[in-house]
Amino acid sequence: MSAYENLLDTLPSQPKTWLITGVAGFIGSNLLETLLKLNQKVVGLDNFATGYQHNLDEVQSIVSSEQWKNFQFIHGDIRHLHDCQAACAGVDYVLHQAALGSVPRSLADPITTNSTNIDGFLNMLVAARDTKVKRFVYAASSSTYGDHPALPKIEENIGKPLSPYAVTKYVNELYADVFARAYGFNTIGLRYFNVFGKRQDPNGAYAAVIPKWIASMIKNEPVYINGDGETSRDFCYIDNVVQANLLAATTENISATNQVYNVAVGERTTLNELFWYLHENLLPHFVHLQGFKPKYQDFRTGDIRHSLADIGKASRLLGYSPSHRIRESLKIAMQWYLGIIENY
Ligand SMILES: NC(=O)c1ccc[n+]([C@@H]2O[C@H](COP(=O)([O-])OP(=O)(O)OC[C@H]3O[C@@H](n4cnc5c(N)ncnc54)[C@H](O)[C@@H]3O)[C@@H](O)[C@H]2O)c1
Repeated sequence: MSAYENLLDTLPSQPKTWLITGVAGFIGSNLLETLLKLNQKVVGLDNFATGYQHNLDEVQSIVSSEQWKNFQFIHGDIRHLHDCQAACAGVDYVLHQAALGSVPRSLADPITTNSTNIDGFLNMLVAARDTKVKRFVYAASSSTYGDHPALPKIEENIGKPLSPYAVTKYVNELYADVFARAYGFNTIGLRYFNVFGKRQDPNGAYAAVIPKWIASMIKNEPVYINGDGETSRDFCYIDNVVQANLLAATTENISATNQVYNVAVGERTTLNELFWYLHENLLPHFVHLQGFKPKYQDFRTGDIRHSLADIGKASRLLGYSPSHRIRESLKIAMQWYLGIIENY
């Protein structure tokens, strides 16, 4: 039995209280769904900056009414210390997801990105430390590798950040490390690599590539590729990210704590490959995709050229083993978008 299967087996009989910040967002709402299904108590904090009530409504429609009663939502802002303190009260594990994502958003508005991702992060650390939570797991990012050229990426070797967003995510790691040393606080950082799956927002200027392209193809709108399309990413399905969070929160391996981990699959896909794979799978549904081609435009400032994770550390210390690889999970994600995108 894998570490995760074992955890899924034991958790329902040992309910704990979890705080998910950013619970109305993509990753947060998927964490919520899994934890409620495992009969855990969950407190959620969100200010709806980029998250949605409809994500919470969808989770409510999936879990039982008994499980939904285990969820308490706080409409609050991590930039306010008292909201963080209220959310942390009585909590065993924190899964801190709230942040402003997106490299281009951070280039357009570095001040709001900084206040949310750094001031908000520090507020959460202080509140969680003071309420003595057992563990603080937080969303770090592969953007921390910056301009370091080596592939695959291993946790110890990072370069210079390429965007304000990357700076904020690196500062999170530095603060978490200092809190471990100075206050004996217990943290784990998860460097996510391009996550995708259900409830990831397909709309808006800062949408991630997979939901944006699926939505554009369904609606017969142009798909833009930044650069020559040979830029590559280690795309990671949401279920793998949920697994990593639950393992990180509950691991009893002391040497696994106060560390950062890559969370990915360890498979590289170029943007051209991604485009044609999505196209091939959506073509049978939409006659307008016959002869549909991407439009190429300039490379985007702040983007890393290639990204591929070594997931050996998470596998060794946390027992992480991705359950979903790229192709099968893209099919699952496409099915979900086909269900929600109307008027095509
Ligand atoms: N999706 C990815 O590929 C990816 C990759 C690397 C890291 N991450 C990190 O994972 C985390 C979750 O990302 P996501 O993809 O689910 O994004 P998301 O935008 O869907 O979710 C973020 C949530 O945080 C909330 N939030 C933002 N500012 C807040 C504030 N001041 N107070 C309270 N809530 C606030 C938003 O309303 C939203 O619900 C973020 O920290 C992000 O930086 C994501």
